[in-house]
Amino acid sequence: MARIAIIGGTGLTSLRNLEITGREVVHTPYGEPSGPLTRGVLCEVEVVFLARHGYGHTIPPHRVNYRANLWALKEAGVEQVVAVNAVGGIRGDMTPQRLVIPDQIIDYTWSRNNTFFEEGLTQVVHIDFTRPYCDSLRGILLAAGERAGLDLAAGATYGATQGPRLETAAEIDRLERDGCHIVGMTGMPETALARELELCYASVCVVANWAAGRGEGGITMGDIDRNLKAGMQRVRTLLEAAIPRCVAC
Ligand code: HPA
Repeated sequence: MARIAIIGGTGLTSLRNLEITGREVVHTPYGEPSGPLTRGVLCEVEVVFLARHGYGHTIPPHRVNYRANLWALKEAGVEQVVAVNAVGGIRGDMTPQRLVIPDQIIDYTWSRNNTFFEEGLTQVVHIDFTRPYCDSLRGILLAAGERAGLDLAAGATYGATQGPRLETAAEIDRLERDGCHIVGMTGMPETALARELELCYASVCVVANWAAGRGEGGITMGDIDRNLKAGMQRVRTLLEAAIPRCVAC
């Protein structure tokens, strides 16, 4: 049974070297996941792949059923999740196409279903979220990146915004004052829900563009697509280096 899942984000709706062994439609008490779970073998390791925005990339960040996605993975026996997220770069070293393994997150999203602990409780539950990402999985990703000769940023604070629109320059200034280094729309509630289900969860962020007001001129979808294409090649290299190491942890 696969213990490892990969949640693909924008620009990663499939994995080139994944030998697909099956697809599984899963229904959950929280509704339907973004699509069937794709089971397969990557570098001799069984993995489950799920495209966060659907296989046709049609579900916007604020409409993703994060609870159903994570519940489906947990039900499938998954213990570790590597999530791939496209982000904008705020701090000067968060350059387009760079890969970042964040270690903190600030939640600016609203009105998303952000917990499993709200109905039928025998007791109120508060998860510890001091360190929101799984440090052992982060360590595996960072070590694999180094071995593969990839330039990874080892730690950053992810500002999770509501979307689907991009931010204003003033909003990015505010996020920077708050301590955010990158900005994206899919980090929350996914990260917290994974912790609620006691999944070991880490994120590989791909910088798709300079955040609003940080580059020259506006942000175009063409630029985002171009940067994501190059960045996702690096993500594939990273996953192929990291996944065999995950089995041992
Ligand atoms: N802001 C929010 N989410 C994003 C961005 C951005 O600039 N780029 C890619 N996802």
